[in-house]
Amino acid sequence: MTRVLGIDIGGSGMKAAVVDTTTGELVSERHRIDTPQPATPDAMAEVVRQLADHFEWDGPAGVGFPGVVQDGIIRTAANLHKDWVDLDGDALFTKASGCDVVMINDADAAGLAEARFGAGEGVGGVVILLTLGTGIGSAVLVDGTLVPNTEFGHLVLDGEDAEDRASSRAKDDRELSYKAWARELSNVLQEMEKLFWPNLFILGGGISKSFHKFSEHLDDVRTPVVPAAGLNRAGIVGAALANS
Ligand code: BGC
Repeated sequence: MTRVLGIDIGGSGMKAAVVDTTTGELVSERHRIDTPQPATPDAMAEVVRQLADHFEWDGPAGVGFPGVVQDGIIRTAANLHKDWVDLDGDALFTKASGCDVVMINDADAAGLAEARFGAGEGVGGVVILLTLGTGIGSAVLVDGTLVPNTEFGHLVLDGEDAEDRASSRAKDDRELSYKAWARELSNVLQEMEKLFWPNLFILGGGISKSFHKFSEHLDDVRTPVVPAAGLNRAGIVGAALANS
């Protein structure tokens, strides 16, 4: 069994658990600490240290981050502090925690987990996963292999970022019914299917628990659409997979 500490960084919470990367199971309880505000690199490194301490962990760790991550370097941080941009995240978190840390985009992490152990298991061809939360994250998998750092949440539709129209935050901010919000989401999915012709869409993020409340309003999307199987666990599991 390979055990890796998985950490999922979100706008409001940083969640961690020890993961068995051969089965995708959590082998510890989950521990959550509020994301510090402002979410500066140093303040967040301190939380990563506290999470590693909580599990008395000094082994490998994977961290899902809500921005573009290229070879450990953070390139964007739309919903966090701008000091993250161009910073070596792997080096910062490794130094702070004493663990060997590998960072990965948060949606890419969820995509890896869903492709290996969840709704995309055994699905060939092109699979697109979207996480619908504060922003919209995306992962593209081709026969199970990740194409990293796609940023479909920033696809511009009628002059607006997709994530400002169809994230779960947009639903709350604009006080949209499930039906009205599903129409926005459907526009985003249709735009993507026009460009990529995927075999399957997987929808993740907390709102995917309510899939039954909005799925019937996605009927003008021709690609099959399914909810993520791991719900909010996929981010932690996939982060761990990034360092296994
Ligand atoms: C970021 C993505 C991230 C997504 C979900 C977007 O604003 O640009 O990198 O995956 O939010 O957190």
